[in-house]
Amino acid sequence: MTAPLKRSAPTTVDVALGDRAYDIVIGRDVLQSLGARVAALRPGGHTAIVTDRTVAKHWLEPTEASLAAAGIPTSRIIVEEGEGSKSYAGLSQVSEALIAARIERNDLVIALGGGVVGDLAGFAAAILRRGVDFVQVPTSLLAQVDSSVGGKTGINSPQGKNLIGSFHQPVLVIADTSVLDTLSARQFRAGYAEVAKYGILGDEAFFAWLENNHAAIFSGGAAREHAIATSCRAKAAIVARDERETGERALLNLGHTFGHALEAATGFSDRLFHGEGVSIGMVLAAEFSAQLGMIAPEAAARVELHLAAAGLPTRLRDIAGFAQEGLADADALLALMAQDKKVKRGKLTFILLEAVGRAVIANNVEPSLVRDFLQAKLAEA
Ligand code: GLY
Repeated sequence: MTAPLKRSAPTTVDVALGDRAYDIVIGRDVLQSLGARVAALRPGGHTAIVTDRTVAKHWLEPTEASLAAAGIPTSRIIVEEGEGSKSYAGLSQVSEALIAARIERNDLVIALGGGVVGDLAGFAAAILRRGVDFVQVPTSLLAQVDSSVGGKTGINSPQGKNLIGSFHQPVLVIADTSVLDTLSARQFRAGYAEVAKYGILGDEAFFAWLENNHAAIFSGGAAREHAIATSCRAKAAIVARDERETGERALLNLGHTFGHALEAATGFSDRLFHGEGVSIGMVLAAEFSAQLGMIAPEAAARVELHLAAAGLPTRLRDIAGFAQEGLADADALLALMAQDKKVKRGKLTFILLEAVGRAVIANNVEPSLVRDFLQAKLAEA
């Protein structure tokens, strides 16, 4: 049994984007304050909550209760769970339901869910009536530390992930850390990969703290809140400097070029959650950096050791079904990377490491180097 968790004052992280600045409010039970915060932001406004079936079971009623207590009219739009909803069909369902709910320019869309719901509802808000504001209420660890912050919204094309979308910043993010208690251990671990990412890409001291404290983050309490707040601060700082990813925001893609290709090769299925792909992708990025002589092999090993200690997959052979079904060959993985947005005129952009805690953007990476590296990794798996 764990000791009862005390409620402490929420932490607020400011995303400093001038007249589009917003707060990320982090803490146990902060969902209860949603109604009052929305009423203060948008007096007299209506809301529509977009969520998925599983999240609705746990969190729709408390969300509606908080809005009702503040006298805010709301309607609900429930989509199917999973990446399949981030599609033209999902966008059409949500957009038509928002129009039917009479959500207008001065109203608010509320995205209650993980990354899929946040991306889909945010994009629907971005294009509804040429732009309606929205609030993110992320319910997965991954969404709390990454996708709910920074305004990337969108859907997938049959030709690739996140290829249709827009930058549309939320006006508020409510990260209630107690909602993470209902996540499966696997989903929580997958989100943890994005927490570790902030240490690996830009903060060695945070990474060292994670090495010593990751178990406490999994059990909840102050360590979890500290990890989420530190991650959000790191992301908010980068987004404030480079909202549209013309430069350093690309560092947040550490592990994602390899990771997206692995997700695509496994059909965006439960064989590999996004965060798990990022975990393997970060180890591959670290090992590729070591192969290029940018870091010592021991530094790459340190990254892998920590992610494995947190229970994350770190090797291609850790992908479910790898032994039975295998994976695409190196050329097919390269072709999948070429569909990603991280490609310019045939050259790949990778986020590589100069140290644990210092990532760099490497443009112009020769595809043949990546293919040879992947071939070796597939052979050793
Ligand atoms: N998830 C990466 C970014 O928001 O830029």
